[in-house]
Amino acid sequence: MKSADLEEGSISTVDLRGNHLLLSKIGGEVYAVGGTCTHEEADLGLGVVIEDRVVCPLHLSQFELKTGKVVNPPATLPLPRFAARVDDGTIFIEV
Ligand code: FES
Repeated sequence: MKSADLEEGSISTVDLRGNHLLLSKIGGEVYAVGGTCTHEEADLGLGVVIEDRVVCPLHLSQFELKTGKVVNPPATLPLPRFAARVDDGTIFIEV
């Protein structure tokens, strides 16, 4: 995926080597966290973004897009975080 295809403040999901990932761009940087809610496995790609957080579409837990940290219940566990970098305009994720 090209970095230019990911708009500032938006999210996108990608499935890579058995991992459902949630990509975001914040402050021009690309971040990758798990794309499945740790509460009841909702697809966070269907969530909405508020500032630097994604809101789960099912029970509204929020997660920090940069770190995967859970902000509010009912989810209690963070999302896994994956190293992301952009090389020559292409996004690379370490899984
Ligand atoms: S499935 Fe995400 S908060 Fe319940």
